Amino acid sequence: MTAFGATEVLNQGPAQQEFLADVLAGMRQPNRALPCKYFYDERGSKLFDEICELDEYYPTRTELRIMDEYAQEIADQIGSGVRLVEYGSGSSIKTRILLDHLDSPAAYVPVDISQEHLQNTADVLNAAYPEIEILPVCADFTDRFELPKPAVEPSHSAVYFPGSTIGNLEPEEAVSLLMQISSLCGRGGGLVIGIDLEKDVSVLEAAYNDEAGVTAAFNLNLLRRINRELGADFKIGEYEHSARYNEDLGRIEIDLVSQTDQNVTIDGESFEVEANEAICTEYSHKYTIDGFATLAEKANLTLHRHWTDESEWFGVLHFVTTS
Ligand code: AVJ
Repeated sequence: MTAFGATEVLNQGPAQQEFLADVLAGMRQPNRALPCKYFYDERGSKLFDEICELDEYYPTRTELRIMDEYAQEIADQIGSGVRLVEYGSGSSIKTRILLDHLDSPAAYVPVDISQEHLQNTADVLNAAYPEIEILPVCADFTDRFELPKPAVEPSHSAVYFPGSTIGNLEPEEAVSLLMQISSLCGRGGGLVIGIDLEKDVSVLEAAYNDEAGVTAAFNLNLLRRINRELGADFKIGEYEHSARYNEDLGRIEIDLVSQTDQNVTIDGESFEVEANEAICTEYSHKYTIDGFATLAEKANLTLHRHWTDESEWFGVLHFVTTS
């Protein structure tokens, strides 16, 4: 058994130039939008962890319960000697359940966009799992990134993609990310993915409009970050958080709505924002198991097994690559 020391995070994340370009592109559109991946600066990552603890926010605890209950079955599906790659690892809390049950994993590769968060998580995991090689990669997983090589040759690779993060993508984008995943896994590989399921609109909307206002703070933090890092001058106090379920498209739509007419300058470019104008910051798609399996088929992934909670609010799905 090898003990692995502290690891340096391999930084392949988006540069500030790209952040600026994405914000400008989003603000130039007729229907303005800011990419949700930029929520996760240090404060944003902490606020997200707080969201996961909220009474109204059922996905995290529901998924955790499924993982707890079926950990051994899920780990058995993944198989032994795996290089486990996690997309959007955050604090890797759910992953620890898997790591506790996997048979001799070759390595764990957490991929996350937040450098500080990833470094902290890697340090904690290194201490808790000295026998597993931890190879963190700071990257936007929707971009191409290089997969680090473990010291021990893995028998296969599997992707763990929990948290229903795939719900942030529009269906066509989700298919292309799933294609990237299926090619990363290759023959004999698999995907374990967490999916938030369709349910009563009141439950969905409450989850994104919590009483304590943490989700609102998380949403508004994006403007704070843009002001601070890109020298913009959004009047943050003038914006309100909004989250509504769009039944036709099966998704929660999260916006920042300006309460007044205002002018924003970003990198010397000025934008008129009208009163009641919504800047979209995030979609969170809700699926049925069958609907998601149909989507994944387009990316050469076949549903093999799935696990849910008793109310069927959340699903953990295991896919294998179609040869
Ligand atoms: C990142 C997809 C897990 O859509 O539920 C939570 C992000 N945004 N509250 C979600 C989020 C506002 C979250 N995921």
